[in-house]
Amino acid sequence: MTQKTLPLTEDLYHYFIQHSVKEHPLQKELREDTSDMVMSRMATAPEQGQLLALLVKLLNVKRYLEIGVFTGGSSLAVGLNLPSDASIVALERREEYAEIAQVFWDKAGFSDRVDLRIGPAVESLAELESEGAAGSFDLAFIDADKPHYPEYYESCLRLVKKGGLIIIDNVFWHGNVAKEEFDDKDTESMREFNKMVYEDERVQIAMLPLGDGMTLAYVR
Ligand SMILES: C[S@@+](CC[C@H](N)C(=O)[O-])C[C@H]1O[C@@H](n2cnc3c(N)ncnc32)[C@H](O)[C@@H]1O
Repeated sequence: MTQKTLPLTEDLYHYFIQHSVKEHPLQKELREDTSDMVMSRMATAPEQGQLLALLVKLLNVKRYLEIGVFTGGSSLAVGLNLPSDASIVALERREEYAEIAQVFWDKAGFSDRVDLRIGPAVESLAELESEGAAGSFDLAFIDADKPHYPEYYESCLRLVKKGGLIIIDNVFWHGNVAKEEFDDKDTESMREFNKMVYEDERVQIAMLPLGDGMTLAYVR
C-alpha cells in the first residue's frame, strides 16, 4: 500500500506521460503550433486533457461549459470525445486566442456545436443564466482569471446539473499556495477559494496533483 502521493521526479514524469497520454493528431498539432506563443504556458497539460477526455466519456457529457478557452487545448480534448449530439459553451475574453481554438474545432468537425462567447466570463455567465441555462450542463471547466474563481464557481453550481461535475484548474497556483512566503493577492485568493470549496457541503471533491492542481467537484 502507498500512503502518500509520490513526488514526480523528471524520470517518473516522463514515464507517466509515456504510459498514459495518447494525443489525437490535432492535439499534437495545436500544441506544436502554439508552443512559441508568449503565453503558451497557459495551455492545459496533455495529461490534463487526457483526464478531461476520460471524464467526458464516463459522465456521458452532452453539454460542456468552459470558462477560459485560450487556444483550445481543453475544449479540443473534450470536443474530440463528445457524442455528435453534444454541445459546448465556451467563454473567452480575448478573441485572438479563441480564433486559434476555432481553427482546431473546425478541423475536428465540431465547431458548429460550439457557442463561443467573447467577453468577460462573469457577464457571459450571467447572460447564460438569464437565458434559462441553469441545471443544463453536465460538466464545467473553470480555467480563467483566478480572482473571479468564486463567482465562476457559484455560477457553475447553478448551471451544472445535480450529479454533474465542476473541474477547477490551477488550484496549486504554481505550488505557491503551500509556501508561507507567498502572500500576494492571487495566492491568497486561491488559498481562500480552496478552503471554501473544501468546506462546501454542496459538492463532493477530489483534488488531484495533475498539472498545476485540479479540483473535481461533484455537484450533490
Ligand atoms: C489558463 S488560460 C485557459 C487555458 C485553456 N483552458 C487551455 O486548455 O488551453 C486562461 C484563459 O482565460 C482567459 N480569461 C482571463 N480572464 C478572463 C475573463 N475575465 N473572462 C473570460 N476569459 C478570461 C484568458 O484570456 C485565457 O485565454
